[in-house]
Amino acid sequence: MYQSKIAGIGHYVPPIVVDNNELSNFMDTSDEWVQERTGIKERRYGQKFEQTTTTMGAEAAKAACENAGISPSEVDFIIFATLSPDYYFPGCGVLLQRELGITNQEVGALDIRNQCSGFIYGLSIADQFVKTGMYKNVLLVGAEMHSMGIDFSTRGRDVSVIFGDGAGAVVLQPTQEEGKGILTTKLHSDGTYAEKLAMINPGSHGNYHFKKMGEPKDYDYPDTKYGEVFMTQKMMDTGAQYPNMEGRFVFKMAVQKFPEVIMEALNSLKLTPADIDILVPHQANLRISQFVQKVMKLRDDQVVNNIQKYGNTTAASIPIALSEAVQDGRVKEGSLVCLAAFGSGFTWGSALIRW
Ligand code: UT7
Repeated sequence: MYQSKIAGIGHYVPPIVVDNNELSNFMDTSDEWVQERTGIKERRYGQKFEQTTTTMGAEAAKAACENAGISPSEVDFIIFATLSPDYYFPGCGVLLQRELGITNQEVGALDIRNQCSGFIYGLSIADQFVKTGMYKNVLLVGAEMHSMGIDFSTRGRDVSVIFGDGAGAVVLQPTQEEGKGILTTKLHSDGTYAEKLAMINPGSHGNYHFKKMGEPKDYDYPDTKYGEVFMTQKMMDTGAQYPNMEGRFVFKMAVQKFPEVIMEALNSLKLTPADIDILVPHQANLRISQFVQKVMKLRDDQVVNNIQKYGNTTAASIPIALSEAVQDGRVKEGSLVCLAAFGSGFTWGSALIRW
């Protein structure tokens, strides 16, 4: 068995900067509200019709390959994590393969749908493939272009002010250096709360889950017709195609699960929070990260926060923040890096990496 290490990392954020004041032109919100509740000052949006989740992912992937000293043609497996894919199907993995000019059909491409914890789930999957010697260069990408599908009216303001676009990527390779690389990953889920943070339409559910919960939605489904369930006119008229979130509920779960899953990883290796050199939490809300920092008794320099600049970029948030921390020297050779995420599903997870 090998261990796997992050041999290369890179990120890409699109050039369009949208601050909170600009959003207040479309919806009833304010810079004060957004900064106070989330810490976010601005976010980036991709160039509509010129960029996609895949193309931003490709920019990050190229940077990660370059950083690893490989050409994209040497990648032997692709994992793509996103909740805002270019297409409903096929996934962004194959689109990325094409975008990078990888024509080798030996390469597998896997899309994963674990939202905010997508990167950590992807890291764990990549780790298993690399450890067993099956693949030598696994490219893991987390990318989002939320701006194309959020509600810019006041109705959607609780969600829309939070999310931004961007991409991050890593290349995982085997190493035989003792104690180096990915030390552990911990993954969890609880589908009880699937609808608390979700984009449920278009979809094949046909009200099933809501009827079971005793809260059927009025989507005006045509009586018995198949083929008209994914998206009805009423869904469009009522904005039911947009993501929705019970923010307070998600917040409460997040502040409980982040410390829990970080401690689980540390305990499994007989480490303590004091051993962490850098915690890179999923950038969900600055208040969540500050709460986690406080309960874990971590210093400011032990926690990476960049949500102020980028908002919540879901599957991209951890690799973007980690890439910045590597670039500015906060992550060094030998650093103990802890990654942690919580989000829609609910799914959550953590990873400990010796850099
Ligand atoms: O990465 C995925 C995981 N997601 C998260 O971790 C998100 C977790 N939750 C949160 O970050 C917070 O719950 C939010 C930032 C989404 C919301 O903050 P909150 O303090 O929980 O606010 P709230 O939802 O309880 O809403 C308070 C008030 C409401 O008005 P009323 O009913 O008190 O009159 C909302 O309608 O704030 C209103 N509101 C806004 N006002 C201005 C909601 N969104 C906005 C907005 N601008 N954008």
